[in-house]
Amino acid sequence: MTAPLIAIYGAYGHTGRLVAAELLARGQDIVLAGRDPAALAELAAELGTPGRVRTRTVPLDDPGALRELTTSADVLVHCAGPFSRTGDPVAAAAVAGGCHYIDHAIESHHVKHLFDTYQEPAAAAGITVIPGLSFYGGLGDLLASAVTTGLTAVERLVVGYAVTGWRLTTGAKDTAAQLFAEPERITFGDGAHRVGYVEPRNAVFAFPPPIGPRTMITPLPSCEIVTIPRHVAVRDVDLMLTAATFEEPGVFDSEDADAATRAGSDFTVAVQAVGPPGTGGASGHLTGHDLWRAAALASVEAAVRIAAGNGPAKAGVLSAAEAFPAAPFLRDLERLGAFTLDLPAAR
Ligand SMILES: NC(=O)c1ccc[n+]([C@@H]2O[C@H](COP(=O)([O-])OP(=O)(O)OC[C@H]3O[C@@H](n4cnc5c(N)ncnc54)[C@H](OP(=O)(O)O)[C@@H]3O)[C@@H](O)[C@H]2O)c1
Repeated sequence: MTAPLIAIYGAYGHTGRLVAAELLARGQDIVLAGRDPAALAELAAELGTPGRVRTRTVPLDDPGALRELTTSADVLVHCAGPFSRTGDPVAAAAVAGGCHYIDHAIESHHVKHLFDTYQEPAAAAGITVIPGLSFYGGLGDLLASAVTTGLTAVERLVVGYAVTGWRLTTGAKDTAAQLFAEPERITFGDGAHRVGYVEPRNAVFAFPPPIGPRTMITPLPSCEIVTIPRHVAVRDVDLMLTAATFEEPGVFDSEDADAATRAGSDFTVAVQAVGPPGTGGASGHLTGHDLWRAAALASVEAAVRIAAGNGPAKAGVLSAAEAFPAAPFLRDLERLGAFTLDLPAAR
């Protein structure tokens, strides 16, 4: 029997490199894929272990090359963004090629598109498509599930991100620019999704000590707005990011930052769930260092599980928390050093 093969699309970007190195550290055979053959060859040489690393040049406008990639690999981790531009061709090829698909998207419209378009084809092909299994998106989705386990109804659920030291890559900067300019946002209120213009505003969110109450930007246009209501019985969802994150010098002019500088971020992701009057609620959070690494560890954990035959029980398009039991998945990421987790008792 041949070892399962995990492909990384966008392998020589910052996220792709972290994912590739982590997959190798976990004993996986990998294919580095992307549009630039020289960058792929350079990364393969850097990573060493030639017997376990292959390369494949795959421009997104070459359906044949995409098809060859997704028919030869068992799982594909898509790390090239903005996903509004790169997401659909890769996901379509994965579904057609029978290859499990995971991506690092933050973009809620892309994630909604995958749920709307590929649910039935992915189920028919017997594969899982898990968009947004990353820092923004996936961790919020998993934490929302873990915190609300055992609550029968949730009136309001807030995911708050406190981030310092974030240094945007080219891909993240392009993605952020698109999201800031987006006229139509997906929101969730009164039990329904809406798409339309929303004026960004400031709010105050009380993080657990030592951070405490912080001024936030909301709504944060992140994809767990699409996924959380799929598995939490909730009326309103709000996503927020500390306003100070984008006020730090160096956030937007750090495309050439080295990996060590980029690894200097600190984060807390906190979920507060409020139940109907008189029923209380629940909260939980995770705290860590280097959000890029946490993102890579999350997608790699999912890819390794799927490659080993320990993937989701059902096929189709799934959020992170629909794909994997949330609290055990988060605890595994904690054991891998992604962050420290603080969940309500008995979760
Ligand atoms: N949700 C989260 O928390 C989270 C976490 C990490 C990353 N991300 C997302 O992941 C994406 C990548 O981030 P990054 O930090 O790794 O960026 P990066 O270091 O700038 O790398 C971007 C990669 O995407 C490739 N790419 C971009 N457009 C492409 C296209 N049209 N065709 C083929 N390849 C293309 C680039 O290849 P070239 O050099 O050839 O252009 C490069 O390999 C961004 O969209 C970011 O928002 C999200």
